[in-house]
Amino acid sequence: MVLDAGGQYCHLIARKVRELGVYAEVCASETPAAGLAGAKGIIISGGPSSVYDPASPTVDPAIFTLGSPVLGICYGQQIMAYNLGGTVRKGDKGEYGLATLEMNRTADPMFAGLAGSQQVWMNHRDAVAALPDGFAVTGSTATCAVAAIAAPARKFYGVQFHPEVVHTARGQEYLSNFVFRVCGCEKDWDPRRRAPALEQEIRDCVGDRNVFFFVSGGVDSTVAFALCTRALGAGRVRGVYVDTGLMREGETEFVGNMPCVTVEHAAEQFLGALAGVTDPETKRHIIGEEFVRVQERIIASRHLLDENWILGQGTIYPDTIESGGTKHADVIKTHHNRVAGIQKLIECGRIVEPLKSFYKDEVREVGRELELPAELLDRHPFPGPGLAIRCLCSEVDAPVRATEDGFVLPLKSVGVLGDSRSYAPVLAIEAFDHEDALDHERATALTNRIVGMNRVVAVVETRGPLGQMQVRACGLTPDRIATLRRADAIVRRISHETGYEHKVWQFPVILIPLGTVEAPESVVLRPVHSVDGMTAQSVGMDAGLLGRICSELMTMPEVAGVFYDLTHKPPGTIEWE
Ligand code: XMP
Repeated sequence: MVLDAGGQYCHLIARKVRELGVYAEVCASETPAAGLAGAKGIIISGGPSSVYDPASPTVDPAIFTLGSPVLGICYGQQIMAYNLGGTVRKGDKGEYGLATLEMNRTADPMFAGLAGSQQVWMNHRDAVAALPDGFAVTGSTATCAVAAIAAPARKFYGVQFHPEVVHTARGQEYLSNFVFRVCGCEKDWDPRRRAPALEQEIRDCVGDRNVFFFVSGGVDSTVAFALCTRALGAGRVRGVYVDTGLMREGETEFVGNMPCVTVEHAAEQFLGALAGVTDPETKRHIIGEEFVRVQERIIASRHLLDENWILGQGTIYPDTIESGGTKHADVIKTHHNRVAGIQKLIECGRIVEPLKSFYKDEVREVGRELELPAELLDRHPFPGPGLAIRCLCSEVDAPVRATEDGFVLPLKSVGVLGDSRSYAPVLAIEAFDHEDALDHERATALTNRIVGMNRVVAVVETRGPLGQMQVRACGLTPDRIATLRRADAIVRRISHETGYEHKVWQFPVILIPLGTVEAPESVVLRPVHSVDGMTAQSVGMDAGLLGRICSELMTMPEVAGVFYDLTHKPPGTIEWE
């Protein structure tokens, strides 16, 4: 059991344990010990809090009397030490990033094979100062004297670093030692051979009824849909795909051609409702409302509330837990799941969610087992509101402003500020020379230094001087969506042909109303690396590929410039709205 103490890597821990072939679940850190009885082992995750803050996540102290081995990671180590009588010191200086750990104990099973110096990844301010009785320090770094602790007699262990992230070179060995040597787990989880059991579960749940899905073309709903089709036969499963008019080029044809899927054309309805709207949140809200309308219409007109129908959904594990998924994924999910008709089905237990204990990569494994095409399983995530949130609008005409740091583009893009979102203008920097064209370090220094700016882009090419370009007042029109769709199709085609798409986690293309009278738009490229979308790094691209993408985009008559987003998340978000 992984106790979620609020850390962004909590899900990663459970996923890493599952990768070892052992089933792991995430639950709230406060889960009463009785609810954890029988757990082969307990891992307390990291978290952003301080043990001395009364509002911080905590654990039921009785978990330390269950007899189960416990591993505390980062804040989890601090909670464990604090609960067992040790003390935690408020750090004046944080330790973030790579560090060298010196392991000073190897006899214990937890540290088997892990002697000497190792690269670990740290992300903390507070640290354990005094150990509880029975504990010994087993590892330290230059700035953290208590980087690993152990009380082998009770099978309690703690590490200040993060064994679950790839930057901790031998992290998986720590987890493996804990899971197999300390907890004595046996392998009981293999996402690669699960289809027959899942199909049986579907048959048991559905009985003699039929299943309908709202499919999106994304990996989760497609794999869930394919599983149901295999389990029940194509005649008993139906999928509906809603074409909102906000999809990428070729998407409706791609999904519409899947077996048992029909397309509901609703572009006019969505684009009509969005006409003249410029505010990002209003856009999202309208799209959610229109989804509700379309879904209710489909359910009513096709009699899908009849007794012989049950709803299938591609819900995956992080969606089912409060802290999982991205905030936006949650919002969108709520829209889709809250349609009155669907809510009624949920209440009557007429719902089947075959993937609800799986992580995304496990869903892909199930998809591979079903022999679904790789082009489908390896698709990048695409947001529910579609191109609408990649097509920026403006209420006013406004000029670009030159400053000593670069050009301020008078647009509002979204960023992360603490737990909420910030809307701020964008800074465009010109390259000093070609080598510096994508200078991520300079961009990071600028967002750190300049208050009220959450995003930095590099100028790749503009038709005329950037200082003479301007943002113009405009909304979300079908023409602008069509321009973005074409620009996106160019970028996708080239990244597919060159294999670049496999090097990045997601590659949004954004249209901004910045340009000249003749060419009023610009395109922003936003390739990122990420694990789960919660944090992300802007990634580079070689000059040849960038040149090729840029020259093709510049052949579009509407396009006055091409920019490259250099911002990590935080402080920027992946999407621009
Ligand atoms: P942000 O922009 O918050 O995005 O960094 C993180 C991940 O979530 C996706 N995203 C969405 N997905 N509906 C979705 O289904 C949404 O409203 C939404 N907003 C963002 C985004 O594409 C990225 O993968």
